Amino acid sequence: MSETLRFGSSSGQPTTRRDGIAKVTGAATFAADNHPDGLLYAVYVPATIARGTVTHLDVTAAKAHPGVVEVLTPDNCPPLPGGPDTKPFRFSFSFEALQDNTVRYANQPIALVLGETFEAATEGAKLLNPQYNALQPRLGLDGTTPFPTNGDGFGKPGTTVHGDPDAGHAAALQAVDVTYETPAQYHNAMETHAIVADWDGDHVTLDLPNQAIVMSCAAYAHHLGIPAENVTIRSPYLGGGFGSKVIINGPQMLAIMAARMTGRPVKLMLRRDQMFGPTGHRGATRQRLRIGIGADHRMTVLDHDSRATTSSFETFVESAANASQGLYASGALRSTHQGVRIDSGTPGPMRAPGEATGSAALECAMDEMAFEAGIDPLEFRLKNYAEREPGTDKPYSSKALRQCYAQGAERFGWAGRPLAPRQMKDADGLLVGWGMGTALFAAPMFAAQARAVLRPDGTGLVETAASDMGQGAWTALAQIAADSLGLPLDRIEFRSGSSDLPDAGVAGGSAHTASAGGALHAAGTDAIRHLADIATKDPASPLFGTGNAGVIARAGRLHASDDDSRSESFADIIARAGGAEVEGKGNVSRSPEAAEAHAMYSHGAVFAEVKVDPDLFQMRVTRLVGAFAAGRIINPRLAESQLMGGMIWGTSFALHEEAKFDARSGRIMNADFAGYHIPVNADVQGLEVITVHEDDPYVNALGIKGVGEIGITGTVGAIGNAIWHATGTRVRRFPIRIQDLL
Ligand code: MOS
Repeated sequence: MSETLRFGSSSGQPTTRRDGIAKVTGAATFAADNHPDGLLYAVYVPATIARGTVTHLDVTAAKAHPGVVEVLTPDNCPPLPGGPDTKPFRFSFSFEALQDNTVRYANQPIALVLGETFEAATEGAKLLNPQYNALQPRLGLDGTTPFPTNGDGFGKPGTTVHGDPDAGHAAALQAVDVTYETPAQYHNAMETHAIVADWDGDHVTLDLPNQAIVMSCAAYAHHLGIPAENVTIRSPYLGGGFGSKVIINGPQMLAIMAARMTGRPVKLMLRRDQMFGPTGHRGATRQRLRIGIGADHRMTVLDHDSRATTSSFETFVESAANASQGLYASGALRSTHQGVRIDSGTPGPMRAPGEATGSAALECAMDEMAFEAGIDPLEFRLKNYAEREPGTDKPYSSKALRQCYAQGAERFGWAGRPLAPRQMKDADGLLVGWGMGTALFAAPMFAAQARAVLRPDGTGLVETAASDMGQGAWTALAQIAADSLGLPLDRIEFRSGSSDLPDAGVAGGSAHTASAGGALHAAGTDAIRHLADIATKDPASPLFGTGNAGVIARAGRLHASDDDSRSESFADIIARAGGAEVEGKGNVSRSPEAAEAHAMYSHGAVFAEVKVDPDLFQMRVTRLVGAFAAGRIINPRLAESQLMGGMIWGTSFALHEEAKFDARSGRIMNADFAGYHIPVNADVQGLEVITVHEDDPYVNALGIKGVGEIGITGTVGAIGNAIWHATGTRVRRFPIRIQDLL
C-alpha cells in the first residue's frame, strides 16, 4: 500500500454534526447531568474581597441548617498531597483549594458547602457570614510596578529583536507611535465549569468537561497523590471551552477532595458569576506600537511592546507583542512584554491567546500608518507582505494570504473605498465605514495517539480521547478516520471523550484536528497495512502477490491499485485469516526538524462594514467578510462555522466584552450576561466566510492547519478601523463604546 494520502469520500464533505441532534434535543449528557446514587451537592463560597485573609466563618450555623452535610474550610480541608502550586503539566497554574486562609482575588473559593440538595447547600453557603481582614486591592495596568517577562512561555520567546530597531526608527520618513488598550475578558463558555467526582477506593471517576483529557488525569493524580491510572475522566460533551477547560481549577479540585472526605459522590456546578475568578481569563493589555516607513512605504521598523496583567502569584501574561513576529516584512522588528501583578485570578489561554489582543493593536496601528502614508490599507499590507517569517527568516510551510486578500476584497467590494474617513453615508443617513485586518494564527500540533480496529464484520472502530467543545471535532475526526480505513462514515464506530482511550493531546491551540486527526489517520493506515499484509500473502486472495504497496482500501474492500477488478472485502480477508480483529495504532507529533525548517501559520483577511448613527453614535457591524487559508479543510460546513464563530468573538472583543473591576473591593461588577456583554443576533448581521484553497506539504501528513481561533484575530482590527473610517474618531481602547465617539 502506498503511503501517499488517498482521501476518500468522507473528508471534504459538509457532514452535519454527529452530536447535533443529541445536543439540541437534550439527550446529550453533560457533566452536571450525572446523578450517581448518594450524590451530594456542593456549592463553593467565593471571597468578596480581592486581597487579605478570611478571619472568621460561621460553620456552626451552616452545619446546623437542614440538609447541610459538611462544610469544608481551611480548618478541616485535607492537605493536597501534590500541593496546589506544583506544575505537573505544560498548562498548569497554581490554584486555590482551601490550603490556607489567604485571599488573593475576588471569587476565590473560601469554603465549600455540601448538602443533600443543591438548595440546602446554597442556603448553607449563605449562612457562613465570612469576616475578612481586607487589604486595598491592586488593580489595572498600573496596579503594581511592571516586570519584564518572556511572555506566556507557551510559544515563541516573548522578547525578540531582529535587525536594528533603533536604526529602523531613525531611517523612517514617516511614523506612528500609538498605544492601544484591551480589557480583561472572561471565557464564559455556555456550560459553566462542572464536575461530578465519585471515588471507589483509591480510584476516582470524574465527569468533567475537559480540553486535555488524558493530560488532566495525570495532573489531577499528581495533585491528589495517586497514580494517573487511578483517575478516569469522562468528557463526552462540552458546552464550550475557549481555553478555560484546559486548566485545573480550585473549585473542581475541592469537589474531588470533598467526595473523598465524605465517601459520597459530589457534584459542583459553578454559577455564572463564579466563572469570573478561579477559572482563568484574559488579562488586560496596554500595547505601544511604533511603525516607521520609508519613501517606498516599506516598513523600516515594527516595534511592539505589551504590558499585560497577571495574578499576584503566577506568571502567565498575554503574549500580545508576539503577534508582530510572524506577519509583516520590516527592516527591523522588536517585541517585548511586561507583566503587572494584580489581585485578580490568574489569566490563561483564551480564544487566540496573544494573537487576539496583539493583532487588534497591530492591525489598527497598520491602518493608522497607511492613512498617514496616504495609501490604501490593503495596498500598504501588500507592500509589506512577508515572503519569509520576519522574526526568524524561515520560509512559510504555505501562505495563501495574497489569495485571502484578493478573494476577500473582491467579495466585500473593497475597491474604490475612499481613503479619508467620514465620506460614506447610507440612505438613512447613517455613517458608513470600511476597515480591514489581517488574520494570523500559528498552526501547532500536539502529540496524539489513536487506535483503529477492523472488525470481522467489515466495520471499523476508532478510538482517541478527543474533546468536542462544540466545534464538531467528533464529526471531522470521524471523517478522517473513515477515510483512513477505507470505510463509509456509517460503518465506523467512533469513540472519544474518555481518558480510557489513547491520548488525543490538547483540544486547544487550534490544533485538535491536526493532532487527533493525524493520529487517527496513522492508526487507520496502520490497520489497513496489516490487513493488506494478510491478503497479499494469502494464495486464496485475489490480491495474492500484489505486494503491500499495490493495494488501496476503498468502501470496505482492498483493491489492487493497478487492476481495480482484483479486490476483496475486508470481511472476507479477515474471515479466511481466522476471524481475528485487525488492529492499527497511530502516534503522531510534529518533528522538531519540521518545526525548525518552516514557519507554520493559518492566514486570513477580514473586511468589515460598520454603520454609525451620526447623532446617537450607536454602532452596528453590518457586514463581515473573512477569507481564510488554513490548509486542508476536512469539513467545510464545520470549518466555516468555526471561522464565523471566531469572527463573532472578534465582534465581541471590538464592541462588547469587558470585565469591570470595582476599585475598592476588586470584585467584578458585571459578572453576568446582563452586564458582561457578548453579541446577540442583532449584533451579527452580514457574515460571510471564504475558505481559500491551500496545500501544505510540511505542516503534517494531512496538510491540516487549524480554524479554531484565527477568526477572532483579523476581525477586531477590521471593526476598529471601520469605526474610524465611518466617524473619523480613532478609538485606541477596546471595546469601543458610544461614549468614545461623542
Ligand atoms: Mo484555546 S485558548 O487554545 O483552548
